[in-house]
Amino acid sequence: MIHIVPKPTDTPDDNSTGAVIRELERADARCRVLDLGVIDPLNSGLENELVWVCGIRQDGHQFETLSVLSLHNQVINTPESIVTCASKVMTSALLLRNGIRTPETAYMRSETQAREFLLRHGKVVYKPLYGFDGNGIRLVEKPDDLGPGPWYLQEYVPNDRDFRVFVLGGEAVGAITRVSEGLMHNIHQGGIGTAVPIDEEMRAIAEASASAVGIDYCGVDLLRDREGYTVLEVNGTPNWHCMAAPIPKLLAAYLIERRREMRA
Ligand SMILES: Nc1ncnc2c1ncn2[C@@H]1O[C@H](COP(=O)(O)OP(=O)(O)OP(=O)(O)O)[C@@H](O)[C@H]1O
Ligand SMILES: [Mg+2]
Repeated sequence: MIHIVPKPTDTPDDNSTGAVIRELERADARCRVLDLGVIDPLNSGLENELVWVCGIRQDGHQFETLSVLSLHNQVINTPESIVTCASKVMTSALLLRNGIRTPETAYMRSETQAREFLLRHGKVVYKPLYGFDGNGIRLVEKPDDLGPGPWYLQEYVPNDRDFRVFVLGGEAVGAITRVSEGLMHNIHQGGIGTAVPIDEEMRAIAEASASAVGIDYCGVDLLRDREGYTVLEVNGTPNWHCMAAPIPKLLAAYLIERRREMRA
């Protein structure tokens, strides 16, 4: 049995969980929806099961419940990797440690240091540490616009589009570019997504990023400048909007394979 934690943001018109469930059913895999709101992980009755997390509410209760479940079950993505990706600073640290190109980034509480970082770069991007869908991201060009700390600040990389690469089981399987007039090209912010081929440099940097955070599958966000691609973040509960690759089918096959390995 594959136990599925549905994405909280699913809607009838945009149902990521439903798309994968359809593929699992098509492949005759047994699955059921697991509601983290009604289980007690200390008394869940789940052991040696595969739990697939399509999405998660970013709150302590859901993270803790999944972590406890992962003691006796295989959770994909692992709660640790979801937590790592939820933190932009932890993701930055792992990218740096693995020598993966990412814009210059700083995380600090000292306003003097934040002002210095801004002066050095002229233009920086402020991001909430646990942000998603572009929420709360803003361009900062004047010290007075820094707002309250602590600050996760990144040098501004001039661009007119970004890229999202879907990596599954260590392999880049799909990519889109997102274009918009504004700073953020996220589809939730009005960006238009179009499928693009995966070039070799894109493949290498996306696969290295997934490996750096140690995750089964993810969406790697990239920008491109004169020197090539640079990684913004790794999404641990990614959408696959506008991908040409059959992501739900690939994900279902991946989960079925992991389940089979558990039984072997
Ligand atoms: N350093 C940067 N320079 C220029 N633009 C940036 C930079 N960082 C982010 N952006 C723009 O803002 C968008 C959102 O940034 P990012 O992907 O880091 O966070 P997020 O959108 O909140 O996360 P998620 O992809 O999970 O929704 C990027 O896709 C890009 O368009
Ligand atoms: Mg992003």
